[in-house]
Amino acid sequence: MAEPVLEVNGLVKHYPLTQGVLFRKQTGAVRAVDGVDLVLGRGETLGIVGESGCGKSTVARLLVSLERPTAGEIRYRGEDITRLSGRALKAVRRNIQMVFQDPYTSLNPRMTVGDIVGEPYEIHPEAAPKGDRRRKVRELLEVVGLNPEHVNRYPHQFSGGQRQRIGIARGLALRPEIIVADEPVSALDVSVQAQVVNLMERLQGEFGLAYVFIAHDLSVVRHISDRVGVMYLGRIVETGTDTEIYDHPTHPYTQALLSAVPVPDPEARAHRERIILYGDVPSPTDIPSGCRFRTRCWKARERCALEVPALAVPEAFRAVGGPAAHDSACHFAEEKHVVADGNRPG
Ligand SMILES: Nc1ncnc2c1ncn2[C@@H]1O[C@H](COP(=O)(O)OP(=O)(O)O)[C@@H](O)[C@H]1O
Ligand code: SF4
Ligand SMILES: [Mg+2]
Repeated sequence: MAEPVLEVNGLVKHYPLTQGVLFRKQTGAVRAVDGVDLVLGRGETLGIVGESGCGKSTVARLLVSLERPTAGEIRYRGEDITRLSGRALKAVRRNIQMVFQDPYTSLNPRMTVGDIVGEPYEIHPEAAPKGDRRRKVRELLEVVGLNPEHVNRYPHQFSGGQRQRIGIARGLALRPEIIVADEPVSALDVSVQAQVVNLMERLQGEFGLAYVFIAHDLSVVRHISDRVGVMYLGRIVETGTDTEIYDHPTHPYTQALLSAVPVPDPEARAHRERIILYGDVPSPTDIPSGCRFRTRCWKARERCALEVPALAVPEAFRAVGGPAAHDSACHFAEEKHVVADGNRPG
């Protein structure tokens, strides 16, 4: 793996649940993020995948310091940025930028595209002298495949895909080292998704960016990710290289997610096993004991309710090695081929 630029250890974000108007009393907590470990290498893409509500956006906001964690550390180039404030924090934030999920609501409808893309320069005036900003903004529009002549238009005059390009241009304005993209293509038509992913790949090479690329569907991140982390109820349950996760998944949740990915070839589709998950995702205010996936796991046994499985290489694979020997938080991890070979998504 490339030299790490971001190392996350034991990241926790709990939102207090309170009751009462006069005397607010904490009655519980939403355990949105509940002990996440991640490593992001320089210039690499880490995909984070999981169902809606599993804590992906909360992780994203923590990584870009829009929120403070309840516990844990986020090391950027070795320094724990959760302890920084004031000028030191501002300097770090310049290097870790975010692209938001919804290009319809994340752009201010009353601002011109030029003002939106140039907004980061208002917060970090040192990044571009005032007289030079217009030129820089036009350059950025060109870089993301938009017409620089449209700098005075408003967001509603652009299509969804173009709006996400505007969001990406804004994310690039300060020349960050890391971009955290929170479901950047989920709100877009399928036909446009690939264009935006391809653009992000090109920009990654051009600007030497490292991405944390969040999605709710494994097929979206396969194409762009060097490594993938699968998230469930506030934790990473399996993580590895794209080959390890897509071709040799050992966690039942990853296997279920993969079995739900659309397979274009009808013959392959007929031959593959579809894993149906029972029930709903439990509430993050009431997380099951032991393995948090056990209420929906078809393999759950008594041990699963008693012992929290650690995110580590399962014992069964430790001695053998190979692509199945990657981190998986399951007491009974085993390989299962869910997608027919040669018909991988993405
Ligand atoms: N500010 C907040 N206050 C209370 N609960 C929150 C807050 N933000 C998120 N949550 C809860 O945390 C959980 C994870 O949310 P989120 O990170 O948005 O998940 P995802 O992006 O994976 O859909 C959800 O149950 C959500 O309702
Ligand atoms: S630890 Fe048990 S419940 Fe959890 S994923 Fe593994 S088999 Fe399923
Ligand atoms: Mg989200």
